[in-house]
Amino acid sequence: MDEATTSEGEQRRSNERRGADEQRGADERHRADEQRGADERHRAPWWWDAVTYQIYPRSFADSDGDGIGDLPGATEHLPHLQELGVDAVWLSPFYVSPQHDAGYDVADYRDVDPRFGTLADFDALVSRAHGLGLRVIVDLVPNHTSSDHAWFQAALASAPGSPERARYLFRDGRGPDGSEPPNNWRSSFGGPAWTRVPEAGSGSGQWYLHLYDSSQPDLDWTNPEVRVEFESILRFWLDRDVDGFRVDVAHGLVKAPGLPDWHGPDHTLGLRPEDPRPPMWDQDGVHEIFRQWHELVAGYPGDRILVAESWVDPPARQARYIRPDEMQHAFNFAYLSCPWDPERIRRVASTTLAANDAVGGTTTWVLSNHDVIRHASRLGFPPDHAPGQGIGPQDPQPDALLGLRRARAATLLMLALPGAAYLYQGEELGLPEHTTLPDAARQDPVWFRTYGHRAGRDGCRVPIPWHSDRPAYGFSPTGASWLPQPEVWAALAPDVQQGVPDSTLELYRAALRLRRDRRLGQGRLTWLDFGGSSDMPHENVVTFTIASVHVIANLGKGSLPLPSSAHVLLSSGPLADGTIPADTTVWLDRS
Ligand code: GLC
Repeated sequence: MDEATTSEGEQRRSNERRGADEQRGADERHRADEQRGADERHRAPWWWDAVTYQIYPRSFADSDGDGIGDLPGATEHLPHLQELGVDAVWLSPFYVSPQHDAGYDVADYRDVDPRFGTLADFDALVSRAHGLGLRVIVDLVPNHTSSDHAWFQAALASAPGSPERARYLFRDGRGPDGSEPPNNWRSSFGGPAWTRVPEAGSGSGQWYLHLYDSSQPDLDWTNPEVRVEFESILRFWLDRDVDGFRVDVAHGLVKAPGLPDWHGPDHTLGLRPEDPRPPMWDQDGVHEIFRQWHELVAGYPGDRILVAESWVDPPARQARYIRPDEMQHAFNFAYLSCPWDPERIRRVASTTLAANDAVGGTTTWVLSNHDVIRHASRLGFPPDHAPGQGIGPQDPQPDALLGLRRARAATLLMLALPGAAYLYQGEELGLPEHTTLPDAARQDPVWFRTYGHRAGRDGCRVPIPWHSDRPAYGFSPTGASWLPQPEVWAALAPDVQQGVPDSTLELYRAALRLRRDRRLGQGRLTWLDFGGSSDMPHENVVTFTIASVHVIANLGKGSLPLPSSAHVLLSSGPLADGTIPADTTVWLDRS
C-alpha cells in the first residue's frame, strides 16, 4: 500500500469518525423529538397507524366448494390474520351483484350475494373478527350501481325526464338524430363512457353515463334522493357493527356541471400530478358529501372510519380527502405507483407525508390491491418498464426472484413509514401476479372492453393457497377455483412457510410485531444521509430513523456496509459479511 493510499485511508476514517459523532448528536436530538412526538400521539386513535388486510372475498377461501370464496370461508381463516398481526380487515364487495365487475356492480346494497353467503354469515364474520380483536371495514360503491339494481331497471322503464331517470346521468345524444354520445368521455375500462338505451315507441333513445363498465351506470350525486339513499345504506351497515367503509371511486361522485368534453391526456391510464384535472374526477363537490358522512359515522360509538379510494394527484389535492371533518384514510397511490427508484421513493414519501401533515391527517401506505399488478411481480421489471394494466402470456415477463427480493424490501420499507398501511391478501406469502392466465379464463371487464388489448386485473385476483398438498391448494374443498392457480402456489402456501425463519410469511409477522412494539406507525420520520462516500453512494439508499429504529434500504446494484456496531432487528433478505446486499431493507436498533 503506498503512502498516498494510506493517508487517503486515514482521511476517510477520520471523516467517518466525525460523521459518526455528528450522527450521534443528531440521533440524540431526534430521540428527544421523537419522545415528544410519541407523547403527543399517545392518544392517537386506532386508525392512525393501523395495518389493514384486504380480503377479496371471491378469492380468499371457499367453504362450499363452488370455486368462489365466501364469507364463512373468510371467517374460518380470520385466526391467520390475527396471527399475522394486523389490526383490521377490509372486505371487498360481497353484496348482491351480477358480478360483471367482480361485485363492484351492486344490485342490492343491503344484502349478501348468495354466492358469498347470507347476512347471518356476515354477522358471524363481524362477531368472530371482533372477538379476535380485528376491526371490519366494508366496501361502499357509491359512484355507480349495477344495471340490475331496481333503480336502474325503473329508469329504463321510465320516460326521459322522469324522476327515475334523474337518479342517473341520462342525456340526449348529439347530432341531428342523437346518435352521437353526449360528450367524448372514455370509460376507465376502455371504450366510450356512454351507452344508448332503447326507448318505447321510438327505437333508440337517451344515453347513460358509465365511467366503468356499461353494467355500472353512474349515479347523479346532485340528486338529493341519491344522498338520502346512501346515508341509509351507511346506517344499515353501521348498525351491523362495521368499523368503517372503504369508499370506492371517492374522487368520481361529482362531475363538472354540464359534463363538458375533455381534451386533455387519456385519464383512463392514470394522470401525472402536473396534468390538468379532468371534469369527471376530483371535483370540489365531493367533499361536501364526505363531510356529511363524517358526521353520520361519528354519531356511532367506537371511532369508525371512512377510507378514500381516490386516485388523485398532486398530494395536496389528495390530502383534502382526509381533512379533519372528512375521511380518515386515503390510499397513497402515488407511492404505490412509484418505480423502484430511491430518489423518487424519497420524494413521493416526503411530499405525501408533508401534504397529509398539513391537514393533520395520517398517511396510508399500500403496495398491492385487487386493481394493480402484485408488487412481487411489478418490481421484477426494470424501473423504466411500466407493465400497464395486467400482464398476459405474450407480454414481457417479470424476473420472479428479483421481484420477490424487491417486494420484501419494499414491504419492510413501507411498514416502517409513519401512518397506516394496507396489505392485500397473499402478499404476506410473497405471491406473484399470475402472468400467464389463458385468455379463456379471463373475467375482468377491462379485458373485454379493450378487446384483449389490456390483460386486466385477473392476474392479481387468483384464489390464494392455504395448503400445499390439498385440492386447489386448500382454497376450496373440491379443488374448484374460479381462476386457475399457478403451480408455484404449492411452494408458497402458508403450511410450507409457517415457522420457516426466512419465509415471507415469517418476515411479515416479525415486521408487524416489531412495528407494533416499537410504535413505528406513530413515530416521526427523519431522513438520513447514508454517508455519501464513494463506496456508499447515498443516491442508492433510502434511509431514515423512526421511533427506536434506523431503516436502511439498499436500492443500488452493489452491497453496502452495515454501519459499525449495528444491531440488526430485521432484514428483508440474508445479510452477507456485514453488508446489506442489493434490494434489501434492514431495520436496525437505535434504542
Ligand atoms: C374501483 C375498484 C375497482 C372497480 C372500480 C369500479 O377502482 O377498486 O375494482 O373495478 O372501482 O367500481
